[in-house]
Amino acid sequence: MFILKTWRSVAFGIYGFKNFTKSGFLEHSKNFKAEDMQAQIEGKNCIVTGANSGIGFATAEGLASRGATVFMVCRNKEKGETALSQIRAATGNENVHLEICDISLTSDVKSFASRFSSKGLPVHILVNNAGLLENDRQTTSEGYEMNFAVNVLGTYAMTELMLPLLEKAAPDARVITVSSGGMYTAPLTEDLEFSGNKFNGVEQYARNKRVQVALTEKWAEMYKDKGVGFYSMHPGWAETPGVAKSLPGFSKSLEGKLRSKEEGADTVIWLALQPKEKLISGGFYFDRAEAPKHLALAGTNGSHASYIHSIAANLRALLSRL
Ligand SMILES: NC(=O)c1ccc[n+]([C@@H]2O[C@H](COP(=O)([O-])OP(=O)(O)OC[C@H]3O[C@@H](n4cnc5c(N)ncnc54)[C@H](OP(=O)(O)O)[C@@H]3O)[C@@H](O)[C@H]2O)c1
Repeated sequence: MFILKTWRSVAFGIYGFKNFTKSGFLEHSKNFKAEDMQAQIEGKNCIVTGANSGIGFATAEGLASRGATVFMVCRNKEKGETALSQIRAATGNENVHLEICDISLTSDVKSFASRFSSKGLPVHILVNNAGLLENDRQTTSEGYEMNFAVNVLGTYAMTELMLPLLEKAAPDARVITVSSGGMYTAPLTEDLEFSGNKFNGVEQYARNKRVQVALTEKWAEMYKDKGVGFYSMHPGWAETPGVAKSLPGFSKSLEGKLRSKEEGADTVIWLALQPKEKLISGGFYFDRAEAPKHLALAGTNGSHASYIHSIAANLRALLSRL
């Protein structure tokens, strides 16, 4: 197991340094088509979670600049209001709105969903971007490990509760979940809250991000007749407040080599704009193309099929508990 774990980390490091940095983006962007990003999406309602900072901010701004109606879901009112006025000023789009919700709390996601549903609007695009890497074990007031609560349970709750509104926008509705290449280092496991004594936030984050990719596959299969597409993606390694806070050593050692937040958001926006026939529901995307979900010889392949059914059932039970 030690050798396998070491191999996963080494393979991820080498692959990541070549592909996930700014130079990787510049190299891959030689194949990008400018026309892919030219669609205007007036009249489309988009929800972006964690939209006050980093990749979420750049995503909300990119969608607003193309005429969409954007609902920025943020946990902090002050930070949310600052970001909202920056995006309105930069894009000239007044159809950008702020919604306050702490995604780590299922009760809060439920009240957001019920508030939002009462608007009677279809949701064309849900971007599950809010995420964090908490290095120490912390527990939410609902009793869940914090990384899990935001990255997995919050993402699950938001998607499931928005589904009726996404169906209203079918067949053009889509859910884009911002996962991470970090998931390459972890197989899917049923141990959702990291029960071991030696808590490791980086490993827990990687496990959470693996769950997002596997859940995206599961949703694609479960809801294939509902006209909603499900996509997970990796933004690459982007310079954001979240990376600086959670991974200061990584951030410092790659100074000048990280992507901008706009480069991190590029594939999110691309997934939002492409005709759905061009995309594969359940797929994992990176730099405007479908990407593998497993690294060679990493031993993570079989884990999705083994555990995703029971994980989805567990999450459903947790969602109905509160
Ligand atoms: N940057 C990278 O290199 C990278 C690489 C792979 C994946 N990602 C993923 O990209 C996404 C965005 O990360 P980022 O790098 O842009 O980091 P960031 O700047 O820290 O942005 C994260 C956003 O999520 C919000 N958030 C965190 N916990 C929340 C909660 N409980 N309720 C509501 N919102 C919450 C944050 O709000 P506050 O400002 O209030 O904290 C912030 O708006 C994450 O899912 C991350 O895992 C990033």
